[in-house]
Amino acid sequence: MNLEKILVKEIDESKQGESLTLDANPKGSKKMYIESYGCQMNFSDSEIVASILTKEGFSTTQNINEADLVFVNTCSIREKAELTVRKRLEFYNSIKKKDNPGMIVGVLGCMAERLKEKFLEEEKLVDLVIGPDAYRDLPNLLKQVDDGRKAVNVFLSKEETYADINPVRLGGNGVTAFVSITRGCDNMCTFCVVPFTRGRERSRNPENIVNECKQLLKDGYKEVTLLGQNVDSYLWFGGGAKKDFKKSSKNDQENSISFANLLEMVAEVGIELRIRFSTSNPQDMTTDVIKVMAKHKNICNYIHLPVQSGSDGILEKMNRGYSREKYITLIDKIRDLIPDCAISMDMIAGFCSEKEQDHQDTLSLMDYVKYEYGYMFKYSERPNTAAERKFEDDIPNDVKQRRLSEIIEKQLSHSFIRNKEKVGKTFEVLVEGKSKKSEEKLYGRTTHNSAVVFPKGNYKKGDYVMVKIEDCTSATLLGKAM
Ligand code: SAH
Ligand code: F3S
Repeated sequence: MNLEKILVKEIDESKQGESLTLDANPKGSKKMYIESYGCQMNFSDSEIVASILTKEGFSTTQNINEADLVFVNTCSIREKAELTVRKRLEFYNSIKKKDNPGMIVGVLGCMAERLKEKFLEEEKLVDLVIGPDAYRDLPNLLKQVDDGRKAVNVFLSKEETYADINPVRLGGNGVTAFVSITRGCDNMCTFCVVPFTRGRERSRNPENIVNECKQLLKDGYKEVTLLGQNVDSYLWFGGGAKKDFKKSSKNDQENSISFANLLEMVAEVGIELRIRFSTSNPQDMTTDVIKVMAKHKNICNYIHLPVQSGSDGILEKMNRGYSREKYITLIDKIRDLIPDCAISMDMIAGFCSEKEQDHQDTLSLMDYVKYEYGYMFKYSERPNTAAERKFEDDIPNDVKQRRLSEIIEKQLSHSFIRNKEKVGKTFEVLVEGKSKKSEEKLYGRTTHNSAVVFPKGNYKKGDYVMVKIEDCTSATLLGKAM
């Protein structure tokens, strides 16, 4: 497991770690191998890429030696993620030199813009570089490579949402799927590289979103996760591009669709389809969204609500747009309207100028919320961000590490408390497949996104099963079907 990124939770037993090799078997003659790093958005994007290339006659393979095309969908969020991707590229190249000289190696996604020259010209690691908004240009770029030319397109679009592309579902379980609703981010948190690598925020046409969900339900899927860097700022008003909202016509404004509206539209696709969403930025989450969640049984009682720090000074310096008090008010409101809502977080230890008192404020905020689980990171300075330009990365690594360890330790104890609260209770579990550790057991998740393992009986993937919880670890609930 990545030491920097501790996942205090088995979100999906089959998808641990940061990379995922994707596979699908349409009848294509040429073979592609896609490896995806980083956030869920990247996995979702790889499915769009696969969809585009399927039309070009490609099928996917898990065997790199037989691949005509190898793509790595990259992540830039922390330095460590970048290093991992670079190592993979070096590995592909060694295979290319030794066993598969005709193979095309391409870089997709967030590292494309920043490292295009380095990868293509200086280090000659890759044949093709393509940014997250340029995937429609792939067939064209592949032709350029075939003609012996360098192929690069890192143009960041203000409009592209791949609205009409039905992703090829890769490496999935046939039960849960991601549906992309926004791209990019305008929030400009000072530590974050996403606004630079993925560009401006834009919302996808709601009709396409709802149709994709309807199709998934028809195909047997039982859960969708609506995806975006910042889902709560979803806004559709005909044109879709959020920044022109104030300039749009009165009619468009009056008929606009907010995230709360969209959530309700998706909830109404079918009661058998469970809905999640990620990620919510606390500054953009509205009471309307919480109310829609409370109203619809098939919207899961679970919110990922990254906080990053519990200190007002640090939150301000991060440009998060909320104070500790505002965040706590939001938590209280969620718990008031949805009493058993599970909440998880992201946290950064050792941001620029973080004092011991700031760190204590983080720990005390965690005590207040008692998150179900969290993703916790050491601050890592990223190129071009406001933090890199304006602040000094002045917390020594050993101090960052110690603070991170204290945060992780606290979270582990909270996760255990939260899981223990569930022992003796019965929950509806959506079965996603077999448990990794035992053929005789099934794995699924509750509305709270808690991982549950139980003896399989006559149940199968895709079933909703009432499971009584009998025991737990800090990561998993163990139970018996009722
Ligand atoms: N809103 C986005 C956030 C993307 S980044 C989403 O969809 O989740 C995911 C998490 O990585 C952030 O919430 C933050 O906790 C962490 N992160 C981002 N930039 C970082 C940096 N420079 N150093 C350490 N952690 C970082
Ligand atoms: Fe990054 Fe902040 Fe957007 S963390 S993705 S800039 S909400």
